[in-house]
Amino acid sequence: MAKLPQDFLWGGALAANQFEGGYDKGGKGLSVIDVMTAGAHGKAREITQQVDPNKYYPNHVGIDFYNRYKEDVKLFSDMGLKCLRTSIAWTRIFPNGDESEPNEEGLQFYDDLFDELLKYNIQPVITLSHFEMPLHLAREYGGFRNRKVADFFAHFAETVFKRYKDKVKYWMTFNEINNQMDTNNPIFLWTNSGVSLTDEDNKQEVLYQVAHNELIASAKTVKVGKEINPDFEIGAMISHVPIYPYSCNPQDIMEAEIANRLRFFFPDVHVRGYYPGYATKMFEREHIDIGWRDGDDEILRKGKVDYIGFSYYMSTVVKHDNETVIKDNIVNGGLPNSIENPYIEKSDWGWAIDPVGLRYTLNTLYNRYQIPLFIVENGFGAVDEFEEDGTIQDDYRIDYLREHINAAIEAVDQDGVELMGYTPWGIIDIVSFTTGEMKKRYGLIHVDRDNEGQGTLERTKKASFDWYRNVIESNGESL
Ligand code: BG6
Repeated sequence: MAKLPQDFLWGGALAANQFEGGYDKGGKGLSVIDVMTAGAHGKAREITQQVDPNKYYPNHVGIDFYNRYKEDVKLFSDMGLKCLRTSIAWTRIFPNGDESEPNEEGLQFYDDLFDELLKYNIQPVITLSHFEMPLHLAREYGGFRNRKVADFFAHFAETVFKRYKDKVKYWMTFNEINNQMDTNNPIFLWTNSGVSLTDEDNKQEVLYQVAHNELIASAKTVKVGKEINPDFEIGAMISHVPIYPYSCNPQDIMEAEIANRLRFFFPDVHVRGYYPGYATKMFEREHIDIGWRDGDDEILRKGKVDYIGFSYYMSTVVKHDNETVIKDNIVNGGLPNSIENPYIEKSDWGWAIDPVGLRYTLNTLYNRYQIPLFIVENGFGAVDEFEEDGTIQDDYRIDYLREHINAAIEAVDQDGVELMGYTPWGIIDIVSFTTGEMKKRYGLIHVDRDNEGQGTLERTKKASFDWYRNVIESNGESL
């Protein structure tokens, strides 16, 4: 018997801001990421607030998909993809975010793209907000601190739902909605929500007000989407970095249990339609006013998601009495008391490689929520080199993907998890989100462009391209 369902959505994942380019074309407005420079290796990027002509902004050109989408979609089809996860750049549709009428040229771009995908039987899987909200909303309204922005978002969502109701079935609201709770790196809060913290802010309170506004925006979006097309499947999107206790010391177990609330807070509300007890108790205890309004309980209850899309790259560990906190490293997922896991290897960017953690995650999420799951990001960021014969032999990437796919298959086949699909991140090389580098490559297709923006943008298939095509063709039987 086949281990995966026949309609399993094998695909690839991307985000408009990281690969489209054309940042000022077709009437597009500036987004929050259009004012972010490239960082040095493994270092955070600078947010310049406006475009400084003396600085380099890698997302402005991305990999020029805006002009080359036909050629790229053909490559995706050659790879055998059944779906492509990407996002709609909000600023192509509403350049400033607060207009009442959309920009037709932006809408047309996605019509053309979706038609091109559907021509090859590739289903678009669309994230509504993937780190590219209008800069104007961040500057003039304070981003998602402001409840009005939730309404602008719902209007944007309704506009694209109506326009693409017969072309797109699978949607997600906010990409990695939970990663912004990590304030060690200010780019998360900025890119997710257009928010910069000031010294006067009650940090915790702002974080939960922003969270509440987005949860309300997401719930309104789900409700309106279902009214427009009841067949839509609308999901949440979270970043899931499981947190392991360092030992069987009950204090470590409890430390991990409490830390994991940071992971479950958003999906708990998205899936159940109400705030969990640990959160309401914490709001009371810490005197946090999340900006609750009458009727919010009904909005949340009526806007529950159909599935959970999630990214999985790594796991982390906490030890209750650890004093050497790992700083400046995304590996710790912003946790105090995090500690290196002695049992697992890391990538060149310090990301822990833990395929078993994916099976563990699938079990944890499924057992907690009992709704379908979708792995919408997973992959290996690495430096690739050309061989003398002009090929790229990325066996390390194949190994990473093979082990993770195998873990996912075990979760379905042995543990009974309902899994909709698998879309490896950065199916074609794109600009890295955290560092803005091109050198950190996830792609199965190489793009000739470097960290300084030099290169021909030529596309070359890597060894992983044919390997993945074979995986898809055999529905995961041949790894
Ligand atoms: C996720 C994001 O955080 O991880 C993507 O949804 C991002 O946008 C991906 O690109 C990998 O991160 P990075 O920094 O290696 O590009």
